[in-house]
Formats: sequence, structure tokens, C-alpha cells
Amino acid sequence: MKEHENEVLDQDYIGFIQNVKRSTGINLAEYKETQMKRRLTTLRLKYGHQTFSSFYEGMMTDKSLMHEFLDRMTINVSEFWRNPNRWEVLRDNVLPELFGRGSTRLKLWSAACSTGEEPYTLAMILAEQNLFRSSTIVATDIDDGALAKAMQGMYLERSLKDVPKAVAAKYFTEEGSLYRFNEQLKKEVRFQKQNLLTDKFDTEFDLIICRNVMIYFTEEAKHKLYQKFADSLKPGGVLFVGSTEQIFNPGQYGLETAETFFYRKIRG
Ligand SMILES: C[S@@+](CC[C@H](N)C(=O)[O-])C[C@H]1O[C@@H](n2cnc3c(N)ncnc32)[C@H](O)[C@@H]1O
Repeated sequence: MKEHENEVLDQDYIGFIQNVKRSTGINLAEYKETQMKRRLTTLRLKYGHQTFSSFYEGMMTDKSLMHEFLDRMTINVSEFWRNPNRWEVLRDNVLPELFGRGSTRLKLWSAACSTGEEPYTLAMILAEQNLFRSSTIVATDIDDGALAKAMQGMYLERSLKDVPKAVAAKYFTEEGSLYRFNEQLKKEVRFQKQNLLTDKFDTEFDLIICRNVMIYFTEEAKHKLYQKFADSLKPGGVLFVGSTEQIFNPGQYGLETAETFFYRKIRG
């Protein structure tokens, strides 16, 4: 009996995955199942849906439920200077190496940028090091809501906790209970919607930052993504990953370890 019930539940969730893929292009099967299912089950029960199929019908007729679903599955947590010592390594070792190759203009990408803290951290570091020149920063995410917040550039004090005091004073203005990010630097970041798992990538990047999203993907999805990132880098370009996202055997993607959590594309 128990086994049969489980099978029915699995079919219900599989049907949900197929429907979501058809209507949104998001493939939940490429995210780790246990975590994703747990998060979505909590949301489904909160609205009294006994099955995923009824939950999906609800999402189709109620826009706010669809938004809440997208919100729950994307997990937008971010902060400026997340894991500060990694950004110091970027500033002190990685960027000088990239500029040292004779480039005056770097092509930089913050992939899965959430509400903007990551690309704006990069923008502040470049500005502080006088390295902006005509570099471009592209920042992408799958979530329209997160991108809208990023473009707005208003933050709670807690997301600034790791920003060095002098830097925070220079690039943020207090407005009521929020902090506004510097308008001029904001213009240096170009935000775009993109699904990392299905969309094509631009190429010739000097630096790709992709942190704290790969942990949610299945091993197979991660493997495909590492290869796509490697293909998008210039030879000598660097991929910067999150502090729990070390790549085992980077050589299989044509990458080598430059620093912990930084991988350089091997020059051919
Ligand atoms: C935890 S946040 C990480 C934000 C930032 N990179 C950081 O480390 O602070 C994860 C982000 O990944 C985005 N995301 C999830 N799946 C994605 C996908 N398939 N393509 C692009 N972005 C995705 C979410 O919308 C969310 O904004």
C-alpha cells in the first residue's frame, strides 16, 4: 500500500515538472529533487492543495501563486562581498593577472546575480582599483523579480555588513530604512534575463562569476554547466565559483585551478 502511495505521489510530482517545463521553460528535474520537492511541498500545503496537479492548476489561474512558486524555487539570498576573503583574492591576484595580459578592457559576467549584490561588488572593486576603463559587466538571472530589484538598487543594511566601511560610505546613500547604491556605478552593469540551464551563452569572457546556485543543481546539470562556462571563457579567462562549489577534476573541462574557488581556462 505504502509503495503504491509513493508511486502515485511520484507520478504527481513528475507531471508537475512536465507542466512547469512546458509553461515556463524551467526544468525542475535539473535541480536536486529532495530539496526542491520539500520546498514546493511546504508551499503547496500552505495553500491547501492536496496534490501537485491541483497546485499547478492554482498557479495557472492565480498569478500571485505563480510568482510565489518562482520566488520559492529560485532562492534569491545574496549579500555584498559574500565570503570577503574570496573577493580579496579576486582583487589582489585574479584581476591584476587578467589586466596584466595586456587587456585594457575586460568582459565580465555575473551569472545568477540575484538582486545585484554580486555584480555591484565587482563594480565597486573595479572602481576602487581604478580598473574600470571600458570594461563591461553583464549580470544575468532567471528571476524577473530579482532582476527588477537589482536594477532598483535599494538594499537593507544587513546585506551591506561585509562591505568595508570606507567603501560603503562612498557608494551607498541612506534613504529611510534602506541604502541606495551609487547611480553612476549602477549604470556600468547590464542586467539580462537568462536561464543558465537552457539558454545559449555569450563567449570571450575574461571572468565569469557564478556562485551559490550550482549547489541546487543535479550532478548532470552541473557537469553540463561547467562545460558551457569553460567554452564561454577566453583562454586564460577565469571562472569564480561559490565557497561550497569546488570543481573536482577541472581538467576535464579544460580548466585548471588558479586559486581556491577560481579556475583558469587552459591556454590551448
Ligand atoms: C542564492 S542566489 C545566489 C546569488 C549570488 N550569486 C550570490 O552568490 O550571492 C541563487 C540565484 O540563482 C538564480 N537561479 C536559479 N536557477 C537558475 C537558472 N536555471 N538560471 C539562472 N539563474 C538561476 C536564482 O534566481 C537566484 O537569484
